[in-house]
Amino acid sequence: MTVVNMGTPAPIEYVVPMSEPPGLVRVIATEADRRSAPGGPRIDPVSVLPALRFRNVSKTFREHGRVIPALSDVSIEVGQGEIVALIGPNGAGKTTLIKILCGLVLPDQGSVLLDGCDTGTTPLARRSLGVVMEGDRDFYGMLSVAENLTYFAGLMGVPGREIGGRVAAALARFGLVDLAGRQGRRLSRGQKQRLSLALGMLHDPRYLILDEPTLGLDPLALEELLALMKDLRGAGVGILVASHDLAALEKVADRAIILSGGTIRHQTRLDVPELKAGGHDGLLDMFKRHVGMPQGEVGQW
Ligand SMILES: Nc1ncnc2c1ncn2[C@@H]1O[C@H](COP(=O)(O)OP(=O)(O)OP(=O)(O)O)[C@@H](O)[C@H]1O
Ligand SMILES: [Mg+2]
Repeated sequence: MTVVNMGTPAPIEYVVPMSEPPGLVRVIATEADRRSAPGGPRIDPVSVLPALRFRNVSKTFREHGRVIPALSDVSIEVGQGEIVALIGPNGAGKTTLIKILCGLVLPDQGSVLLDGCDTGTTPLARRSLGVVMEGDRDFYGMLSVAENLTYFAGLMGVPGREIGGRVAAALARFGLVDLAGRQGRRLSRGQKQRLSLALGMLHDPRYLILDEPTLGLDPLALEELLALMKDLRGAGVGILVASHDLAALEKVADRAIILSGGTIRHQTRLDVPELKAGGHDGLLDMFKRHVGMPQGEVGQW
């Protein structure tokens, strides 16, 4: 039983059955809290629980009259202090889901809730998100590393007096001190990735969304990223990480979700014996079983 105390006197208690983790979650909130909470009276008992929630999200793209289904009725939850791995083949819909969360793509159906707040109707709720997109789209190529960090710190609401300290700390944490004056476009691939990660975490987000964060990182930088993710989890940050680096995910993730063809094929905790003793040896086997390809054919074109 987890108790979430949302109010002081005269609490209303909601008992909400949860499948993950198993058991019951009790939410205590005053009626006044509920009315004044972001999203107001629309909030239902489940959605006030602190978490990032994709609810029944569907998306279809249209291109030259062709219909391209990308996501179909996808519901995902990322709690505080957990790392959720989102895996699936190329074109599965992972990045589309993340773009919907950021408001870069509008869903046809469904919603995204951040601690009970609908990001569709309350875009400011996204300030509690840190997002690192794939590729080098997270920063301005013509600005230097330090200029990018300073600019985005302000944009994300870091108070002016704190920006200098945050930028210095980010440069040190991500091994960018010697590159502070270099333009973003002149960085190596792994250096760009480190800058993207630094930018995503600059404002101490409560939820961190990482799309292919390990791409281009050298082995030491990768190890540091995994250690950092564990630290952030310990500090209560909820992390959703989309990646093809199954070995890295196995080291840090608490749960895995397999997405394929725009639908969730499988969800599992990674701390259950299934992975270790169930006749297969990890995420790769799980991936092969649930994306519909016979064993041995994954990787053939
Ligand atoms: N703007 C767009 N217009 C048309 N189709 C799109 C658009 N964006 C994505 N798609 C299509 O939607 C599907 C899902 O793409 P998405 O980028 O979400 O996959 P992904 O799981 O992130 O794949 P990868 O592992 O290769 O990064 C693909 O079929 C893709 O071609
Ligand atoms: Mg992608």
